[in-house]
Amino acid sequence: MIKTEWLNAESSEDRERAAALLKQGELVAVPTETVYGLAADATNPAAVRKIFQAKQRPSNHPLITHIASEQQLPCWAATTPSWIQPLAEKFWPGPLTLVLEKHHSVSDVITGGLADIGIRVPDHPVLLDILTRFNLALAAPSANPFQKLSPTTAEQVMHGMNGKIAAILDGGPCVVGTESTILRVHQGKAEILRSGPITAEELGKYLPYDIEIPQQHSVSVPGNQRIHYQPSANLFISDRNEIAKLLDGTRRNRGFLVISADLKNDDAENIVVMPRDARGYRSAMYSSLFRLDQQVADIWVEAPPRASDWLDIWDRLSRAATSI
Ligand code: TXA
Ligand code: MG
Repeated sequence: MIKTEWLNAESSEDRERAAALLKQGELVAVPTETVYGLAADATNPAAVRKIFQAKQRPSNHPLITHIASEQQLPCWAATTPSWIQPLAEKFWPGPLTLVLEKHHSVSDVITGGLADIGIRVPDHPVLLDILTRFNLALAAPSANPFQKLSPTTAEQVMHGMNGKIAAILDGGPCVVGTESTILRVHQGKAEILRSGPITAEELGKYLPYDIEIPQQHSVSVPGNQRIHYQPSANLFISDRNEIAKLLDGTRRNRGFLVISADLKNDDAENIVVMPRDARGYRSAMYSSLFRLDQQVADIWVEAPPRASDWLDIWDRLSRAATSI
């Protein structure tokens, strides 16, 4: 166990402290616009190795590298193909990770031995400030223990990582709420490896290729394992009628995440009414699940709409769900 320092992102002294710890090869959890990341200096393989230890993550699962701007790409990718430019211009900084052939100098520890590297420019003022001012590139997976819910607040990070990392830089709640969309273009074929806040339709407007969203693929992506993003409670997805029936029965040890506001007819703490729009739902999803997970043994989720901008939400909920 080490003592985890709680740093405040609003204090410039604390930001400097976070950067200094990173430069020393320590792990610091940092805010991004999607979820909190567990960051290490990407040029320091010994530091990056500590991430796998702290998360209990298998060492062949690659990490995303966060850079200050597109200008840094040539340090990390072997080539920067022309299809990148319009995407970077439109979506960076933002929740889009590009999988590119790695530069020969990039450590295998980051890529889990793969020839490719995942890279993004995060859209968070605090993190961008740290990356730019201290000339850092940061390897960072989500700051949760392996297979658990991704954290969107500093408190949630501490729940899983207290005593395992040097510091947490508290930048308040993450606004977007699900992890970045991961896109890979290889031999003229574009694939989404993980759905995220930016949809295939949106990407398609800026790419000269059709985009596939494969269910299963050969590239090692832990986010694509059947079990992932799991609360400790059992999680079930069900339709409105089923949930209404359950609400009439015993509610002991049960929590409900619903979109039909009328299902909540009292001030019970274990019924959370979610926003009906994908953006609002996404933003509140992990923190609401986390809160219910502290209170109950079974979480019942009312099935959200089956529309294309809900794809990442469905993806995370189905992986969080208990197999029956
Ligand atoms: O929004 C996000 O992407 C957050 C924040 C912190 O940036 N990060 C995140 O990292 O979700 P992580 O490690 O929890 O998930 C990263 C995903 C994994 O599924 C990993 O396999 C995939 O990115 N990935 C990274 N590098 C890859 C590569 N070279 N090839 C294929 N997949 C890769
Ligand atoms: Mg993750």
